[in-house]
Amino acid sequence: MSTNGSIPAGRRAAVVAGLRTPFVKAGTEFRDLSAVDLGALVVNELVVRSGIAPKEFDSVVFGQVIPSPTVTLIGREMVLRTQLPRSVQAHTVARACATSIQTTTDAADQILLGHSDCAISGGAESVSDAPIFASRPLAQALVEVSRAKSLADRVKILSRLRPKDLTPVPPALKEPTTGLTMGDSAEIMAQKNGISREAQDDLAWKSHSRAAAAWDSGKFDGEVMHVAVPPDYDRVAARDNIVRKDTTPEALAQLRPVFDRRYGTITAGNASPLTDGAAALVLVSEEKAKALGLRPLGFVRSYAYAALDPRDQLLQGPAYAAPVALDRAGLKLADMDLVDMHEAFAAQVLSNLKAFASREFAEKQLGRAEPIGEVDPARLNVNGGSIAIGHPFAATGARMIVQTLRELDRRKGQYALLTVCAAGALGAALVLERE
Ligand SMILES: CC(C)(COP(=O)(O)OP(=O)(O)OC[C@H]1O[C@@H](n2cnc3c(N)ncnc32)[C@H](O)[C@@H]1OP(=O)(O)O)[C@@H](O)C(=O)NCCC(=O)NCCS
Repeated sequence: MSTNGSIPAGRRAAVVAGLRTPFVKAGTEFRDLSAVDLGALVVNELVVRSGIAPKEFDSVVFGQVIPSPTVTLIGREMVLRTQLPRSVQAHTVARACATSIQTTTDAADQILLGHSDCAISGGAESVSDAPIFASRPLAQALVEVSRAKSLADRVKILSRLRPKDLTPVPPALKEPTTGLTMGDSAEIMAQKNGISREAQDDLAWKSHSRAAAAWDSGKFDGEVMHVAVPPDYDRVAARDNIVRKDTTPEALAQLRPVFDRRYGTITAGNASPLTDGAAALVLVSEEKAKALGLRPLGFVRSYAYAALDPRDQLLQGPAYAAPVALDRAGLKLADMDLVDMHEAFAAQVLSNLKAFASREFAEKQLGRAEPIGEVDPARLNVNGGSIAIGHPFAATGARMIVQTLRELDRRKGQYALLTVCAAGALGAALVLERE
């Protein structure tokens, strides 16, 4: 999508509804739900709440970052496991932590092209249900056993196995190019950019206190559904369970670094936690919104994706993507009423904010004469971010979009900039507008 002026009449993509499950710490209330279960719950409820007849929907774009070996196409499952007509076509998208920014820009592009009029975009993640793999020797032995002709052959194959071959292999959380985890990379960024532990803890504390205030004032009630908790369904998850109203900078300062235990600054308190949850949006063309009498929450104005070398600052992608998205919107940072920056780690947010404001970064890394500018702290992550709310990878983008558009509406603002950093040193930026 390019600048607003080039969008054909009526084809602007409007977000008319959005919803998420509560976001909960992995291994807690949603441990018996898979990503596809969580996705289907939110899509079903969203369709009902949107007030749009299921027959009006024509497409679903959905994502999941940790792949499920039993459900290979979560997009289509969002049709087959919900009330949507089976004729609704669907596809699955993955762009790591920016997955449901990607599902949304894909849906918006299809609307702009006139290929879609009413789409679901979103993502779901269950870290609790992450696949655990067999070791290579065990996997090979099991395949050979299934083909073996006699019991003696089977015994012979299995007798080759050593105890260590039986150890389960967890999914890799490391960046393949560098062998570093996200946390290791954020630690490097903190060092390179001179981000102090205090500044990180302060950002984390603000994230928690703002998210807690948003819950207490009822701001999240209209965007978070309740989920009956299996296996007994005798209680309901109604709120995010990671937000800590009572956390303080002093309590955060007590936590030990987890990635670089000796000299590091990143702790469980100033990192986003491993989280289960799902979020989804309804996007329609502006003309369809009018025809159905729907009031848009807002519109997709522009977007950009960018990338850098993963051996450089892995989570710095937003600083590369944001200026391009703003240019495509024909707008400046100062025009933004809200800025929502995904909080993978406080160190990553603070590093990106530094790059936004740095003339040296603008000149050397972006080849631009002017930096994007300083983000007004009063407009940044005003209702908390992923550190407090949690980060179910594929659901975060859709969570940010609905949360930001509803806040833009409350403030009667006009524009918002959203950014997300992602594995592979990718960055995503999205400009939303209210009218
Ligand atoms: C950082 C990480 C390793 C911590 O995991 P964990 O050890 O399971 O974290 P916990 O929630 O158990 O917290 C550890 C301790 O810190 C405490 N704590 C966490 N947040 C706190 C807060 N805001 N205030 C006070 N204490 C806090 C917990 O109470 C716990 O204390 P305890 O040991 O006394 O029970 C994990 O969350 C992680 O890997 N995060 C990064 C995920 C990632 O890479 N995402 C990709 C980014 S895009």
